[in-house]
Amino acid sequence: MRVRGMRDVLPGEARRWRDVESAMVDVLDRFAYQEVRLPMLETVELFSRGVGEATDIVEKEMYCLTDRDGQAMALRPEGTAGCARALDENGMLYNQTQRVFYRGPMFRYERPQKGRYRQFHQIGVEAFGLSGPDIDAELIQLGCELWRALGIAGEVRLELNSIGSPAARAAFREALIGWLEPRKASLDPDSRRRLATNPLRILDSKSEETRRALDNGPAFKDYLDDASSEHYAGLKALLAELDIDYVENPRLVRGLDYYTRSVFEWTTDRLGAQGAICAGGRYDGLVELLGGRATPAAGFAIGVERVVLLHDAVHGVSPEVPADVYCCVLQPGLHGAALAAVQRLRRMAPALRFRVHAGGGKLKNQLKRADRSGARWALLFGEAEIREGLAALKDLRGSAEQERLRLADVAARLNGRRAAKE
Ligand code: HAM
Repeated sequence: MRVRGMRDVLPGEARRWRDVESAMVDVLDRFAYQEVRLPMLETVELFSRGVGEATDIVEKEMYCLTDRDGQAMALRPEGTAGCARALDENGMLYNQTQRVFYRGPMFRYERPQKGRYRQFHQIGVEAFGLSGPDIDAELIQLGCELWRALGIAGEVRLELNSIGSPAARAAFREALIGWLEPRKASLDPDSRRRLATNPLRILDSKSEETRRALDNGPAFKDYLDDASSEHYAGLKALLAELDIDYVENPRLVRGLDYYTRSVFEWTTDRLGAQGAICAGGRYDGLVELLGGRATPAAGFAIGVERVVLLHDAVHGVSPEVPADVYCCVLQPGLHGAALAAVQRLRRMAPALRFRVHAGGGKLKNQLKRADRSGARWALLFGEAEIREGLAALKDLRGSAEQERLRLADVAARLNGRRAAKE
């Protein structure tokens, strides 16, 4: 039985994942971000320090294990802390800037539902060593370009906020606690608990009553320190210059403790409750918190499952056709020669996918399989064809007569048809 919260990605969907991921990686390449590949297993300490003890992720969502040396390990719940650790440990943050991305599975023990899984995948993008709003703006521009490349730009909305310096946040936190303490009775149970541990998270509570309790309460913008205000204004000016639309959301606080200043999230209305497809922000304190030199940084991570769901919702899902050409072998003794002939064809028509029938059987049954496979063409190899270096090409979706052709002509015909279709 599959473990709860895990997903099997089967052929049709896996193909769409590959298309979606490679479209995004192409964009990242064009922005000159470099890929890093990072471990899935890290120490628990990395996340309790980096992401924060009082966050949901560390408090209750990590998959932890003790290894044979008694070390407390966790399957990574997110990629930023590991990325900061890796670049610092490999001396890549000393006196240099880095713009990198990573991809792969993350693990969180959350309540599974559509768009929320216990193993999910992210493409994460991080920039280190750059403190100005220019890099925040580039990251957001990069995000917009990703959505454009996937044809989903019209379906997403950018939400933006600044959560300032740790000191500003601490002052706001006190004010918020002071405001909510007398209104505790109207908070939902989660928020009541958070009032003591992580009160800022109450701001993004979905409970109506809690939201009402927050109305007219302290506003973060009144606590923002001057340097953060200036940074935020700089970012908004750049976004205006780039013609990038956004909605300011003063209640956007994010669930991880390492953020400072800009935070942002792309959301969609097409996926129900799990509408955040991508989120991130600046985290100027993280590298130092993990033991490195103070290094400004910013980044975001895309939820691949959610982006694929959105892509499917927008573009529809067409059935997976595994092969373009289904090759039938009329007698068992001809199989070796047919495999060799098809291999020559693959080299001559590299854009096409050839599947060779396996397991023998009558031609009629092989053609039935060919038809069911969804392939456009069947290619038949009989004794005479093999002897003469020919193959019989049959258009399974049209009315044209079957034709016996030399292999080079088969390739030319298939390439030509392909070209004509495109
Ligand atoms: P996050 O908001 O926790 O941020 O996750 C980023 C994205 O991952 C979410 O917007 C969502 O699309 C996806 N995601 C999160 N949890 C799940 C889940 N259980 N199932 C499916 N998708 C999920 C981070 O992880 C930060 N490390 C982002 C970042 C990078 N900040 C700076 N750099």
